[in-house]
Amino acid sequence: MVGASVCRLMQSQHPEVELVVRSRQLLDLRDASEVDRFFQETKPDAVIFAAAKVGGILANATFPVEFLSENVRMAINSIESAHRSGVQRFLFLGSTCIYPKHAPQPLCEPSLLSSPLESTNEAYALAKIVGLKMCQYYRRQFDALYHSAMPTNLYGPGDNYHPEHSHVIPGLLRRIHEAKIQNSPTVTLWGTGTPRREFLYVDDLAKALVHLLTLESPPDWINVGTGQEISILELAKQIAQTVGYLGDFELDASKPDGTPLKRTDPSLVFSTGWKPQIELKEGLARTYRDFLNRIERGTLRSN
Ligand SMILES: NC(=O)c1ccc[n+]([C@@H]2O[C@H](COP(=O)([O-])OP(=O)(O)OC[C@H]3O[C@@H](n4cnc5c(N)ncnc54)[C@H](OP(=O)(O)O)[C@@H]3O)[C@@H](O)[C@H]2O)c1
Repeated sequence: MVGASVCRLMQSQHPEVELVVRSRQLLDLRDASEVDRFFQETKPDAVIFAAAKVGGILANATFPVEFLSENVRMAINSIESAHRSGVQRFLFLGSTCIYPKHAPQPLCEPSLLSSPLESTNEAYALAKIVGLKMCQYYRRQFDALYHSAMPTNLYGPGDNYHPEHSHVIPGLLRRIHEAKIQNSPTVTLWGTGTPRREFLYVDDLAKALVHLLTLESPPDWINVGTGQEISILELAKQIAQTVGYLGDFELDASKPDGTPLKRTDPSLVFSTGWKPQIELKEGLARTYRDFLNRIERGTLRSN
């Protein structure tokens, strides 16, 4: 999702830049020698590292071994090979789940490694911390401009709509769309609906990433978010409005809620000159149009 968004942005705003893109089918980043060959052959000037094994709470809790080992290997292989081939600039993508479970809200950059992580996605978070630290160490040891961005929850065109393993917005959007098609009177939400979460439209993130690559001295890692959050129930209602679903929501309070509030402090990235431009309502409308287009073309992603 993020990689495709960066490509769309570069093609429309910076057509003079030659993009080098590889899908997983052409380059498995877990394979160190393949990665090394790729960098030696292509020798890019700059890298935006948007590959990862990504998933929701259930996927993270079920496959911690894969989430840790695949993500660490992809990151280390890529950072090491990039440096060996002379890449000047490397932007690693982490996530705000790198911050400790009980870090003060809103989450700010200095909270990294200040106390234990949330256990459900600890493996993924550890892998992201390794990638972030590798970039910081390369910068310190070799004076290479390797740095990281920590996006909040993302959504937008090209998201993954797997019925169990997807993130909050694609998961809800799919279920609410299906409830509308099947004329179901209610949709059940896990938990009390009160937890508050922050969401960023993926094209806003792409702009932030390209912007960060233009900074002469970016921070080692920086949050990319909106600083605004919404409750899960309010979010579900907004999605229902977008989809045109007229039914009700039932809350299954026997299911866990997770942390009551998760919001980033984006003041550092705002101070560099970037701000999000797409409001949630508009972002959801664009995302739903993309969802319907992909269903029509038979290309909806559900892996
Ligand atoms: N989505 C979010 O809410 C969110 C929030 C914060 C941070 N992020 C971060 O943003 C980045 C991009 O996430 P995304 O949402 O764009 O996820 P995505 O759509 O799943 O993109 C990740 C890409 O990495 C590829 N990949 C996975 N394993 C690979 C391997 N071994 N070799 C080569 N490619 C591999 C995937 O290919 P396949 O599709 O073939 O598996 C996919 O194309 C990730 O670093 C993620 O941690 C995402």
